[in-house]
Amino acid sequence: MDEKNRPNPEPQTHTSVGGSPDVEACLALPKPWTKEQVICNSAEYLKIVCGERKMTDAVKKHVIKHTLENFDDYFNRGFLHYRKSVAEAEDFAAIEWTGEGSIIEDMVGRKFIDCLGGFGVYNMGLRHPKIVAAVEAQLRRMPLSSQELLDPWRGFLAELLGELAPGDLQECFFINNGTDAVEGALKLARLYTKKTGFISTTGGFHGKSMGSLSVMGRAVYRKPFQPLLSNIHFVDYGDAKDMERELKKLTDLGEDIAAIILEPVQGEAGAVVPPDDYLPRIRQLCDDFGVLLILDEVQTGMGRTGKVFACEHWNVVPDILCLGKALGGGVMPLSCFMSTPKIWKEMEDNPFLHSSTFGGNPLACAAGIAAINVMLEEDLPQQAADKGQYLMKRLRSFHALYPDILKDVHGKGLLIGLEFADRFTGYRVAAGLFRRGVLVAGTLLNARTLRIEPALNISYELLDQMLDRLTDTLKEIDRQFDKDAKERSAKDKEKKPAKDETQQKAEDDASLVKAS
Ligand SMILES: Cc1ncc(COP(=O)(O)O)c(C=O)c1O
Repeated sequence: MDEKNRPNPEPQTHTSVGGSPDVEACLALPKPWTKEQVICNSAEYLKIVCGERKMTDAVKKHVIKHTLENFDDYFNRGFLHYRKSVAEAEDFAAIEWTGEGSIIEDMVGRKFIDCLGGFGVYNMGLRHPKIVAAVEAQLRRMPLSSQELLDPWRGFLAELLGELAPGDLQECFFINNGTDAVEGALKLARLYTKKTGFISTTGGFHGKSMGSLSVMGRAVYRKPFQPLLSNIHFVDYGDAKDMERELKKLTDLGEDIAAIILEPVQGEAGAVVPPDDYLPRIRQLCDDFGVLLILDEVQTGMGRTGKVFACEHWNVVPDILCLGKALGGGVMPLSCFMSTPKIWKEMEDNPFLHSSTFGGNPLACAAGIAAINVMLEEDLPQQAADKGQYLMKRLRSFHALYPDILKDVHGKGLLIGLEFADRFTGYRVAAGLFRRGVLVAGTLLNARTLRIEPALNISYELLDQMLDRLTDTLKEIDRQFDKDAKERSAKDKEKKPAKDETQQKAEDDASLVKAS
């Protein structure tokens, strides 16, 4: 008999004197659990979730320990290894518990200034009251769609987006993740053009489902899953001439290309801003060669770079636009792809060519409507532009002070990348900031670059606090750099002959591996 479904000889539910299960005993129940034990533990977990369990120090300690064990044993094994919240949090791993605006508090009450913004999800901050109120109201009415009756918010939100988006981008389809938006965009481009190929860019990040992964510009995520979609080509990001050469070559070879896909500013590659003539030139090339332009604004949209949509910086209108992350206001997962009525016509005959059970559900759309209202009423794009300029000036002064540590600062609005000498230094800065109560993180495709991506309505006071703590962190690392350099030079004098370059590089690599 299946171990898990065996009858329980002595049902252990750890009922304490008061009749409620004892949390410590529940969490410590030996595995495998019977169904009764799963019921008992889920009831106990629900009490914690619903705030009915008094969170004493002992209970918190158990939850922290148990969270670590569960991530190790049941959720995406290996994931914990990479968390600063585990490695740098000293006695207790930092378990996120609550948040408001730009402050996140962990289970034991440590506060963090959020300069990471959930990788671009929290443009409006955490738990913006207007967005939470919209979702709570809808939750009390109807959380998910009947799938047959029409839900008003899907239409309302589509209308708001259609009116807001540039050019004649008017039609849209809602789903949940950025990668879903890109999948839809790729399918629509193929459907409309009856062509199969795509050109993407090195360093481009578009999600990790198979279609999106096929246009991802970084080998480490692609290689294990090859073969991916065929007829996919890559050119250097920011180099319009390279794109032109590729288009010419592919046309000469008779390869049929449906679309070019790229980010107006590359997010996961480290906040990479292309030259000012890049996007207009790409738009022109698309028109000249008869291919569609898909702009992936999953990360750059909703005000992040200083405009509602980043493409507005260059007055470029794509044929298909992808949005995600902050579209759900930091409260619900929500994404969409948009296009023109002309292109969308291809879907009209059979709109079920693309569908999603949860996409555009009433909770998510209520959040999306509130997110658009907040973004415009609080003029978040302008806030991003002003605060981005303020930060950039201060951060560039750090580059001048510590050129060996901080190699470059780039970005647009509040999507800023700090590029360090190597990934080891990047990690040390992120860890130093973490210990000083500031959350930042690396970007997924460029380990040397830390992102500064706070809520667009973060206060200047919090930004100043972050900058002070970054100053302390850089000073500390600079002192360590000096000490290391002195020790190295003393050792070099003792040891003769000096190491050759290959030997030195091997040692550096080994220390990187240990540090990661
Ligand atoms: C530009 C871009 N596109 C797509 C995605 C994928 O989004 P998701 O992780 O929600 O699938 C991301 C995620 O970082 C992104 O930055």
